[in-house]
Amino acid sequence: RRLARALTIEDLRRIGRRTTPRAVFEYVDGAADRERTAARNVAAFESAVFVPEALNPVRDPDLSTTLLGRKIALPLVFGPTGYTRMMHHEGEVAVARVAARNGIPYALSTVGSSTAEDVRRAAPDGDNWFQLYMTNDKPLNRKLVDSALNAGFGTMVLTIDTAVAGRRLKDVRNGLTIPPTLSLRTFLDMSRFPYWWFKKLMTEPIRFASLEDFPGSSADVAQRMFDPSLSEEDLVWLREAWPGKLLVKGILRPGDAKRVIGLGADGVVVSNHGGRQLDRTPSTLEVLASIRAAVGDDVPVLLDGGVRHGQDIAAAVALGADAVLSGRAYLYGLMAGGERGVSRALQILREQYQRTLQLLGLDATAKLSGAHVHL
Ligand code: FNR
Repeated sequence: RRLARALTIEDLRRIGRRTTPRAVFEYVDGAADRERTAARNVAAFESAVFVPEALNPVRDPDLSTTLLGRKIALPLVFGPTGYTRMMHHEGEVAVARVAARNGIPYALSTVGSSTAEDVRRAAPDGDNWFQLYMTNDKPLNRKLVDSALNAGFGTMVLTIDTAVAGRRLKDVRNGLTIPPTLSLRTFLDMSRFPYWWFKKLMTEPIRFASLEDFPGSSADVAQRMFDPSLSEEDLVWLREAWPGKLLVKGILRPGDAKRVIGLGADGVVVSNHGGRQLDRTPSTLEVLASIRAAVGDDVPVLLDGGVRHGQDIAAAVALGADAVLSGRAYLYGLMAGGERGVSRALQILREQYQRTLQLLGLDATAKLSGAHVHL
């Protein structure tokens, strides 16, 4: 089968590009403005240099690690992505199932197209996280937090790099805006994928995460998720309201990492939103070491942006991350083949990661250090 022949995430991307309407593919693949940050994330990983240890026999390396007090199968998390049912009708629940089956966490987005309850039902044993966009609508924030609590989610991820929406030019040109204003070209392109649309129409209408009874259209909801007034007070409120683990996503400065830990966060996600928000930031890999140094060894530090290969996971861990989040890599799999495509993406990343440890002469994730990778 086509998926089995895909050997790399890049192969899955090519299949996804052929099987998905262009506006949808470009929504996933694209980034803000001139897409410099997105390219820089990938380039940083490609410039990482691996230095192996000699004569260490490694038959069956232990890929697992401990994150937020729980053991996970490898240092990888499926990160939050909005509107995932637009990429494939199976959407979030497919991603959650693959994550649970393989022992890694999955973070449902506030603007996900399935509810927290849908995810709980699909993956009752999964390590399910909820990604929160906070607005100045306090009852809405409370409702979102409660929905994650009621669905038994253990970890909350507060995303803080969306004061306003990044300018994603491809989406604007494709008419993938809110509200949608499809151009003739986009409409014609979408009509080339009748099967894709048939599947979409045959499945339930898209619902926003936990917002079934929220008044207003989907468009209103998404519009309200970007909030220029987000401040420290909101983090303090959330720390009070949320009894579980709390991560802050969107940190690029050592001082900010220290500040949010001081306000009660349990850890940080070093992230530039995959280059989809502010363009021309540093890559996440290049700021990682300074952030790790600022918070010390005991605070969980995760990283995302540009992970396309198992070697990228190894590089990030060696340079100070406890784990990485993946966005586009699993979405390419989802577009290429639904749940099986997501499985394939994970299998590719895991095999690449395992081979990297073995060729480095390391028998466990815990052995990766700055002695094995430099930029
Ligand atoms: C995202 N990202 C994201 N982040 C978030 O906190 N909430 C969200 O709803 C979304 N939505 C979203 C949609 C799509 C299509 C993409 C590609 C990304 C950002 C995501 O969590 C993560 O930070 C980046 O995707 C990491 O970069 P890579 O792995 O895609 O290069």
